[in-house]
Amino acid sequence: MERNGTADEAGVGGEEHGSEGAAPVLAVDRVQALTERELGELAEATAAAIIEGGGFGWVKPQPRDTLARYFQGVLLVPERSLFVARMDGVIVGAAQLVRPPRNNEAQAFSAQLMHFFLAPYARGFGLARLLLRRVEEYAAAIGVRVLNLDVRATQTGAIQLFESGGYRRWGTHPAYALIDGKTIAGHFYYKELSPTGRRARGS
Ligand SMILES: CC(C)(COP(=O)(O)OP(=O)(O)OC[C@H]1O[C@@H](n2cnc3c(N)ncnc32)[C@H](O)[C@@H]1OP(=O)(O)O)[C@@H](O)C(=O)NCCC(=O)NCCS
Repeated sequence: MERNGTADEAGVGGEEHGSEGAAPVLAVDRVQALTERELGELAEATAAAIIEGGGFGWVKPQPRDTLARYFQGVLLVPERSLFVARMDGVIVGAAQLVRPPRNNEAQAFSAQLMHFFLAPYARGFGLARLLLRRVEEYAAAIGVRVLNLDVRATQTGAIQLFESGGYRRWGTHPAYALIDGKTIAGHFYYKELSPTGRRARGS
């Protein structure tokens, strides 16, 4: 994919990104509710990412209302935190932070980063790097010490993003996914997060 110029992270947390001119305003929020309009935008972005070929579990295009219902369901799951990425105020991507269930004390220090994607029309502006950073910041602040993720070996953009962001590959599953009848390998990564926030201060 051709990269869309450069972008620093002046827009972290929803502030202005870039200065005058055509630079889009980038923002990332953790959401606990979505309006109908936002659900529509998220469904649209997800559908576009599925059609383009991946990052999400879905392989075949899904109706927008199926996708909207899926995200309504995500919002109801206590272990899941949903982050949305916005470009000029419109949702164009998302990521989920999934913590282990309460009975899994042994792994309570860790979490899984899942379903990380941007719609093809929003790529190349630095928004994925911002989304990743915001998820990591939130995870560290709630006491997560290790972030795990896995990705299809064919997702070269995502692999580059994660590896340049400090994720260490610890294994490869040769039969990770089946896409259009073809078996695809998947890589497994982890990153240790520096403790921050309330728990790090021991209060
Ligand atoms: C991965 C993805 C989110 C990156 O989005 P993006 O907007 O292009 O990413 P950014 O502009 O923030 O770029 C961040 C870094 O990602 C890497 N990257 C992204 N796309 C790339 C590409 N096509 N080729 C090489 N590196 C790429 C680069 O390291 C880039 O840093 P740089 O601009 O300094 O070179 C997007 O390509 C995507 O949604 N892919 C499909 C879903 C997916 O694979 N998800 C991961 C599964 S968990």
